[in-house]
Amino acid sequence: MDKTHYPIMNREIVEMFAKTDRELFVDCTLGMGGHSYHILNNYENTSLIGLEIDRESLQRAKINLSKYENRVKYYNIDYMDVFQKIDFSNQKISAILVDPGISMYQLKNEDRGFSHNINSPLDMRKNQQSEEFKITAYDVINTYSEKQLTDIFLTYGEVKRAAVLSKKIIETRLFNKIDTTFKLKKLIEKILGFPVKGRSHPAARVFQALRIYVNRELEGFEDFIKKIPNYLKKGGKIALLSFHSIEDRMVKKTLNDLSDNGVIRLIKPYPMVPTDVEIKENSASAPAKLRLAEVL
Ligand SMILES: C[S@@+](CC[C@H](N)C(=O)[O-])C[C@H]1O[C@@H](n2cnc3c(N)ncnc32)[C@H](O)[C@@H]1O
Repeated sequence: MDKTHYPIMNREIVEMFAKTDRELFVDCTLGMGGHSYHILNNYENTSLIGLEIDRESLQRAKINLSKYENRVKYYNIDYMDVFQKIDFSNQKISAILVDPGISMYQLKNEDRGFSHNINSPLDMRKNQQSEEFKITAYDVINTYSEKQLTDIFLTYGEVKRAAVLSKKIIETRLFNKIDTTFKLKKLIEKILGFPVKGRSHPAARVFQALRIYVNRELEGFEDFIKKIPNYLKKGGKIALLSFHSIEDRMVKKTLNDLSDNGVIRLIKPYPMVPTDVEIKENSASAPAKLRLAEVL
């Protein structure tokens, strides 16, 4: 396993799995296979199902997990479709993990357009092969109306001065297409300013909003969470990581509803967060929140 890859809140997730029958782990967001590696390494009788929407990432995960080949089944699918595409009627799940968003591997890729720190074409699709995901960040920035842009920035990024930024984008693209991450970042800096020390760059929220929109990350997310308990064993565990407040609010609300209806028990009433030691080792973990639940 690549030593530079840090699966976020891994210790907490591995410990949670110890409190199940440890038969079947479903990793909805395989990424580089970081969490899965530790599950397979710690529990030798566990079988694992790994889902990943990004074909290139799935190939990397397969390499990283090659040692455990006969215990893993891989699927290049959207995890929101998992219960429709995989038959769990013969084996219920011991624990399920969702660690959404993108990996460092995707963020640092020079062709994908996920990072405002790397100059690349504005794409941002995780699944570049799918007919369903044809719209790129370039299409959004260069063809959407001022109102549509403002809505996206507000809904998925809670971007300050979103309307002013959208207006500037419309004016700029009349003369020059905004076709790279750096062109967009420069525009954002003109409107929203430069980063204050210790704070994230103002472009981060705009990029987050575009990524969520392009990949329809939150469409059907609550419905997906609601379905999970039906496929887990009694005592099975649900681990949901989130990286921004919009995602965490959805997770919190849906888990609370399931708990109020007596379907699950919240393992802790509040989210767990990375320790200072973890944040020091991996600063990208800082915004993470982990919510754990047990099926009743
Ligand atoms: C934060 S990374 C996961 C890292 C992983 N837990 C690890 O330790 O290596 C998120 C991964 O989930 C994938 N992903 C995001 N949304 C997905 C979806 N709807 N279905 C399947 N995979 C998805 C991304 O392509 C990315 O590789």
